[in-house]
Amino acid sequence: MAILRKTMEIFNSLQDLKTSLELNDWGKRNILKIVPFRKKILMWRMKRCINKLESSQFYHNFRHQVNTPTISGHFSKFLGSDSKAQMVIYGIGNIELEEISRLQLSLAMLMKKDFGWIELVEVFDPVISKTESQVMKTLGCSVLSINEHGRREAMKPTIFFMPHCEIHLYNNLMETNWELSLLRNLVILGNSFEEYRKRPPFIVILENNQPFAPVYGDNFKKFWKGRPYFSIAMEHVMSAEKFTNEFRIDDSTYFAAFAFSSWHFFNPCSETELVINYSYDD
Ligand SMILES: C[S@@+](CC[C@H](N)C(=O)[O-])C[C@H]1O[C@@H](n2cnc3c(N)ncnc32)[C@H](O)[C@@H]1O
Repeated sequence: MAILRKTMEIFNSLQDLKTSLELNDWGKRNILKIVPFRKKILMWRMKRCINKLESSQFYHNFRHQVNTPTISGHFSKFLGSDSKAQMVIYGIGNIELEEISRLQLSLAMLMKKDFGWIELVEVFDPVISKTESQVMKTLGCSVLSINEHGRREAMKPTIFFMPHCEIHLYNNLMETNWELSLLRNLVILGNSFEEYRKRPPFIVILENNQPFAPVYGDNFKKFWKGRPYFSIAMEHVMSAEKFTNEFRIDDSTYFAAFAFSSWHFFNPCSETELVINYSYDD
C-alpha cells in the first residue's frame, strides 16, 4: 500500500511538471490532446480532495456557519418562493495545476451535495483546459464557453462563487445587477468587500487592455512610478456597503484557498440606496 502511494506521488509530480509545461505554452493549449489517463488522474485527485475537505475542520465550521439562524435567514430571504437556486463559478483557476483551485471546486461540489437546493453549477475561467473542462463536466458542472466578464443578470436566485477574483469582475457583476429586484437574487461568496473598502486596490490597465492584479498602497507607487496607468471601475463594489450583509468565512485552515473570503447578501430597500457614492481618486 505504501509503495503504491509513493508511486502515485511520484507519478503525480511528474504529471504536474508535464502539465505545467504544456499549459504554460499558450500557443499549444488548444491543440492539446486530452489524454484519457490524464483525465482519470485528475478525477482521482478531485475525488480525493473533496473527501479531504469534507472531513476537515474547515468544512465543519463552514457548514456550521451556514446553518446559524442569521445566515440561514439570509438564505431563506434570498431563495424567497423559489425552491432552487443556481451557482455560477468564475475564476476557479487551473484545477490540474493548483491544489488551491481543487479545494475551491471541492467546496462548490460539497455545497451542491449538502445544501440540496443548488440545481445547476456553471463554471467559467478563460484558463480552463480541455482536460479540466471534461473533469468538471464529469463532476456535474456545466462549463461555459463564452466569457461573460462577470456580467450575468441574476434573473433568479444565483450564488456567485468567485474565489479570489479581481475586483473588476465583482464590479461588473454588481453593476449589471444594480437594481432592487436583481440585487436580492444575488449572493456572492468571494473576496471580502469590507476588506476592499478598508484598502482600496489600485488597478493597472496593461497595454493589451487587460487589468493587472490589484497592487496596494505604497507598493503600487514604488512599482508603477512614472508609468501610465488608469483606475478602473470599482464604484459599485464600494457603494454597496449600505445594503450588504457580509459574513467572513473562517479561513484559519486552508488559508491560501479561502483567505479573506466572505458571504455577501444584498438587501437594498429603496432606490436612494443605489446612488453611487464612491469616486476613485488617486
Ligand atoms: C487571482 S486568480 C484566482 C485563481 C484561484 N481561484 C485562486 O484562488 O488562486 C483570478 C482568476 O480569475 C480568472 N478570470 C479572469 N477573467 C475572468 C472572467 N472574465 N471570467 C471568469 N474568470 C476570470 C483568471 O483566469 C484567474 O484564474
